[in-house]
Amino acid sequence: MRRIFIAVFVLSVFGTIFGLRMTTPAPAVTTSSILPQFTAEQLKEFDGSNPDKPIYLALDGFVYDVTEGKEFYQPGGAYHNLAGKDSSGPLHLVGGSIIKHKYKVIGALK
Ligand code: HEM
Repeated sequence: MRRIFIAVFVLSVFGTIFGLRMTTPAPAVTTSSILPQFTAEQLKEFDGSNPDKPIYLALDGFVYDVTEGKEFYQPGGAYHNLAGKDSSGPLHLVGGSIIKHKYKVIGALK
């Protein structure tokens, strides 16, 4: 009888803890909502055509500053076509993980 009582007690304590965890609501403010927001139109300015401006590209909703790799992204570079826009499609095939590891997120795509 004592064993059954202990087992029920332990299970109900664990149930309460895990139950609460599972129902905890997601935070109202997500990381991307506190970053500077860019529209697709605004991103176009940062495609490397203007050497005085940084070069940005968007991947999975975030905007990365890829200026450090400008040899790839400026006009004539192998990946200029990825700059100044949301390039999630091609970057899911090749190169997306390089971008995520190598460059800093500076904004979010609206
Ligand atoms: C859909 C096609 C492709 C996409 C979207 C793509 C994208 C990328 C991206 C974003 C990078 C990282 C550049 C950086 O460091 O900022 C990269 C690196 C690289 N890619 Fe591609 N790539 C593609 C096809 C290819 C092909 C076909 C080749 C070879 C024939 C290639 C060779 C390379 C090499 C060698 C690097 C490393 C460059 C370095 O760090 O020095 N890529 N690629």
